[in-house]
Amino acid sequence: MDMNMEITDNVHYIGVNDRTTQLFEALWPLPAGVSYNSYLVTGSEATAIIDGVELTHAAQQIEAIKRVLGPGRKPDYLVINHMEPDHSGAIEVLRREWPELIIAGNAQTLRMVKGFYGAEGRTLAVRDGDTLPLGGATLRFALTPMVHWPETMMTLVEEQGVLFSGDAFGCFGALNGAVVDREMDCDRYFPEMVRYYACIVGRYGRFVQRALERLKDVDIKMLCPTHGPVWTERAAEVTGLYDRLSRYEALDDGVAVVYGSMYGHTERMAEAIAGELARQGVRNIEVLNASHTTLDVILAAAFRHKGLAVAAPTYSDGLFPPVAHALEALSVRCLAGRKVILAGSHTWAHKAVPAMKELLAGCDLVEVAEPVKALQAPDDDALEACRESARALAAALR
Ligand code: FEO
Repeated sequence: MDMNMEITDNVHYIGVNDRTTQLFEALWPLPAGVSYNSYLVTGSEATAIIDGVELTHAAQQIEAIKRVLGPGRKPDYLVINHMEPDHSGAIEVLRREWPELIIAGNAQTLRMVKGFYGAEGRTLAVRDGDTLPLGGATLRFALTPMVHWPETMMTLVEEQGVLFSGDAFGCFGALNGAVVDREMDCDRYFPEMVRYYACIVGRYGRFVQRALERLKDVDIKMLCPTHGPVWTERAAEVTGLYDRLSRYEALDDGVAVVYGSMYGHTERMAEAIAGELARQGVRNIEVLNASHTTLDVILAAAFRHKGLAVAAPTYSDGLFPPVAHALEALSVRCLAGRKVILAGSHTWAHKAVPAMKELLAGCDLVEVAEPVKALQAPDDDALEACRESARALAAALR
């Protein structure tokens, strides 16, 4: 994209799109790509790059910076809000281009700068609440740890209410020409925000809540995250969505039916559950075969819907691995507040449901029916037990 984009009089977008990487963090599919957002604040006295880009895109960022600043002018500061290498990977390249560039970050950030890149010297350690005047644009730093790493902070341009928020309020999806929400149809980014949140930030809900609490008195005119659009017109919608997700509030009364099945027997149980949920009036049902559905889709569905149904066979004296993987990921994210039903099948030893319970033990979930057990192929009684369980879940969701 044309990266030389003016966002305000003295803030330019200098980020990049990545439509090549298939798995973000080598884990999460990127069907619509991702942007690594970076910004340049130009004051009358000094200039600051806010966050970097991933290493292989460094040349594009440097070109954008040069185009904004013009001949003879150099960036003075690189403010690092977040050290994950999708934003910090190009630090050494920037330093080689501009050896006098001062890296500004908090104490943890500067330790990570040394640890990742061996970079020392020409650093500016900032603390919570510190300011850095650039001339007509004053940067104020707010430490917001664990959104998404311990060193994360946000930077506000005080005069303009422009907040560089790091991963908070970010989403998957590359930018398609425009950068600012008012210049695009940005509906497509909201499902990508739920998926991004569930995959990347989902474990750190209470820290997102702390950050939101800190921001509640800040007059934010423009929200500039490290991924996805810059938010102005829909900024309140974005902070509202992050607020709901970080409180583990479901976005609808639907159900994620997550199941695994080797030969189709447990699948019949999942289908019985889904069919009865639909008969009971549940309208938003996602039936997800854990063997064929990537983990990001399962996590996003579990965060989106108020109901969760899990059905899986026993496998090697435990739980069928794809379902175990999904439940472990939900447990890592401390999923809470969901109405849950469980169903397990087995051929000679019933281990699936106890393993499900063990995996979900750390989550604050409400099981609304006795788990269903099926021996070998589910008979009529077992399938009716699945329907009964689904009726209990539908009732709990009303
Ligand atoms: Fe976009 Fe946590 O890095």
